[in-house]
Amino acid sequence: MGHERPNIARMHGYTPGKQPATSDTIKLNTNENPYPPSPAVMRALQNIAPEALRRYPEPSAERFRTLAAQTHGVSPEQIVAVNGGDELLRMAITTFVEPGAPIGVVEPSYSLYPVLAEIHGSPVVSVPARADFCAPEDFAEHMNAAKVQLALLVNPHAPSGHLTGRAQLSKLAAALDGVLLIDEAYVDFVDPALGHDLLPMLREHDNLLFLRTLSKGYSLAGLRFGYGIGCQSLIAPLMGKTRDSYNVDVVAQALAEAALADRAVAADSWQRVRDERARVTTELRTLGCRVPDSQSNFVLAELPAKSPKARELLLLLETRGVLVRHFAQERLHDSLRITIGTPAQNDRLLGLLRELL
Ligand SMILES: Cc1ncc(COP(=O)(O)O)c(C=O)c1O
Repeated sequence: MGHERPNIARMHGYTPGKQPATSDTIKLNTNENPYPPSPAVMRALQNIAPEALRRYPEPSAERFRTLAAQTHGVSPEQIVAVNGGDELLRMAITTFVEPGAPIGVVEPSYSLYPVLAEIHGSPVVSVPARADFCAPEDFAEHMNAAKVQLALLVNPHAPSGHLTGRAQLSKLAAALDGVLLIDEAYVDFVDPALGHDLLPMLREHDNLLFLRTLSKGYSLAGLRFGYGIGCQSLIAPLMGKTRDSYNVDVVAQALAEAALADRAVAADSWQRVRDERARVTTELRTLGCRVPDSQSNFVLAELPAKSPKARELLLLLETRGVLVRHFAQERLHDSLRITIGTPAQNDRLLGLLRELL
């Protein structure tokens, strides 16, 4: 007899993207930024004093929260720092969802959401995304009817990159009875010409929480640092009650501060990714793939009918040193999700696809 709770014994854990076998593998499977973090981040790392490691870190990451508040035009009480965005998802569930009460998602979306719901013993109420991968107009009504206490929406959408605008999300937040967590893990890659900014919504709704991460935009996936931006009434219990006592370590705090203070370097990488995203999208379409317009640092390529099956193509690419991602899920069986790499990495991928498709 095992000792796991029955729901844990039944469940499958999250499947992370594959790690490369060799250092020259081109890794386009986990949406990392292909450019290095800012030199200011590396200097901050070198400046960590032994004394700082001996002591516990500042428990509330106050300096980072003050800087993030200035950056986003909110108050520090509206920011919580977390050990990677994934920790915020877990904290939101334990704070806002009665054990066993349902959690709402759009299907398909981030494959960690149902795993976290399962851990909590919560059923998942999933509503199919529209053809363009947007949440359907009646999403909130579905959620309210099922008495969902927390709905998780990723925007730009993963794995399609589709961006939903403020007007639609504002309507949704107003209609939703529970908490709406908008996962903005990829928001840094949105084209600035679109003027996309959801944070002013915080002045209109008291059920909103945004997830941000330094993993993608700031090239710090290895660091594990993210943060939540939300209404003060939602941030207060996260900060004061459900957070681990020292949830972000001293190295992560120092490097995160340096990264955010030197945002211009990261912003340069976002533009380079956007330029390549446009090129890769065009090239994939020329090869016969269906590729939704992406505002993220990846694209979803639905393969043409004459192509090998997606899983087979992934393995062919892998044997040639390029990793991409496939999800064995409704609507995604015939697609590969491809992270935008450097121009040279993208050339290699496109060259292989020209040969294999
Ligand atoms: C949609 C989405 N949300 C959140 C995260 C969390 O990122 P992290 O825990 O690295 O901050 C990821 C990471 O892949 C993601 O794809």
